[in-house]
Amino acid sequence: MKKRYTVTAALPYANGPIHIGHLAGAYIPADIYARYLRLKGNDVIFVCGSDEHGAAIPIRAKKEGVSPQKIIDKYHEIIKKSFEDFGISFDNYSRTSSKIHHKIASNFFNELNKKNIFIEKESEQLYDLKENQFLADRYVEGECPKCGFKEAYGDQCESCGSSLNATDLLNPKSKISGNKPSLKKTKHWFLPLNNFEDFLNKWFIEDKKNDWKSNVFGQVKSWINEGLKPRAITRDLDWGIPVPIKDVKGKVLYVWFDAPIGYISSTIEWAKKKQKDWKPYWQDPDTELVHFIGKDNIVFHCIIFPSILSASGKYILPTNVPANEFLNLEGQKISTSKNWAIWLQQYMEDFPQMQDTLRYVLTTNAPENKDNDFTWKDFQAKNNNELVAILGNFVNRVVVLTHKYYNGKTPKMGVLCQKDNKIIEEVYNCPKNIGFSIEKFKFREAINLVIDLARTGNKYLADEEPWKLIKTKDSKKVDTIMNISIQICGILSIVCEPFLPQTAKKLKKQFNIKNFEWDSINIKNPIITEEIRQGSLMFRKIEDQEIILQLEKLNDSKK
Ligand code: MF3
Ligand code: ZN
Repeated sequence: MKKRYTVTAALPYANGPIHIGHLAGAYIPADIYARYLRLKGNDVIFVCGSDEHGAAIPIRAKKEGVSPQKIIDKYHEIIKKSFEDFGISFDNYSRTSSKIHHKIASNFFNELNKKNIFIEKESEQLYDLKENQFLADRYVEGECPKCGFKEAYGDQCESCGSSLNATDLLNPKSKISGNKPSLKKTKHWFLPLNNFEDFLNKWFIEDKKNDWKSNVFGQVKSWINEGLKPRAITRDLDWGIPVPIKDVKGKVLYVWFDAPIGYISSTIEWAKKKQKDWKPYWQDPDTELVHFIGKDNIVFHCIIFPSILSASGKYILPTNVPANEFLNLEGQKISTSKNWAIWLQQYMEDFPQMQDTLRYVLTTNAPENKDNDFTWKDFQAKNNNELVAILGNFVNRVVVLTHKYYNGKTPKMGVLCQKDNKIIEEVYNCPKNIGFSIEKFKFREAINLVIDLARTGNKYLADEEPWKLIKTKDSKKVDTIMNISIQICGILSIVCEPFLPQTAKKLKKQFNIKNFEWDSINIKNPIITEEIRQGSLMFRKIEDQEIILQLEKLNDSKK
């Protein structure tokens, strides 16, 4: 059944370029999912944009000695380019500094304020006396009262994922001056999450236990059960969306209030360009809303944003939030400040045209249920032993043999023996199984099935040995073997598209495949009937020397 889907991927902060951890955590899984849903013929919108507010931006600006505006303009372009390089197929990539987003987020705030959803109250907040500035969010660091992590931010601990108030931190320290903060009274608007406990118990705990990933469900459930507290949704900062109330000066919306609304404004921006109606994508209860994020974003997408959406009364709530755990690099936590990362721009320079290789490795190694490790050795091994030796090799053998025996024309299938029937059945069931895995957000399982299909093809050729039959009286059998092998290449070109879009494009060109929908793959409908082009190799081997170089580079640039 065709459906409408709104797929989102976490808006990256425009305070720096993006690295493999970002791709593995949110963008590749989201892209696989969106591409698959489109191939199934669904109505899909896949949106994202740069997150350009919050303390992350002015802090970076100060470091680089430029204005916050300069920072977001620079990194918005760099990030956008990286997404294009890696084939992340957003329908719209927006930014939260845009006029339209400021308007939508302000309206959201005003609407809820009018409904008296918020509490307005004075409280004591951390203040840097030397810098004359309040210290919210990333402006302050201290020990997490829940897990003891030493570098928790004022709004969140990225180690255990807890959402915090800055005043909860033990031994807080100003990130600007390094001083111990004082306390100062100030007025803010709070979202009383405690009032949403009934809603969350019903929507989340009762409805979600079966189909959500256990890592996500368990975390959210324990937070809800611990009891929720009011959370300030405004800040004393000069960077962000001004609190849209007359006579309120020097206060902005909390970045985590406005950023998720960015998904909606990105949709609205897209709808305007396409002259479509955006509302069904956010307000029709038949639409499935799926948020792809890393685990540090769980609380915002599973507790705070749904509460805000439900308070508005008009919006649908997420059907699923398949958050990933973290990806480590060579056994250590990826860290921007320590420059322990593989930056996407750098990768593109060192491995031009090899985007799919990184997509492949990050998917087979995705931190779906637990933290996982990326190593350059494993990268090389997966490329050489799987992409080159299995997928590339199979396709190449089929192309070469078809040219040798038939001048590149697809032979007709002859009489089938039991063995042929068995393989045909196995092969034609494969797309369905891959689809099931994708629908369950098991992308590692899904991509392994793709490689297994190529493996099956290789084994079939090796077992049947058409090169031995071709000169015998059984040469008719070769027609069947080659036809089946060619159809496997056709199926591969479709099922690999969500994972390896560049490879899929090359395969389709080589095998003359028109646009084929996922569900139209069936035994009675051969995918390839035409001529097959000779092409260049799809994957290249990675040499030891290249890997040694990358390891040196990584260690040398570590701070
Ligand atoms: N910028 C945040 C981060 O990188 C993610 C924001 S997701 C959104 O952690 F929902 F707010 F958009
Ligand atoms: Zn913690």
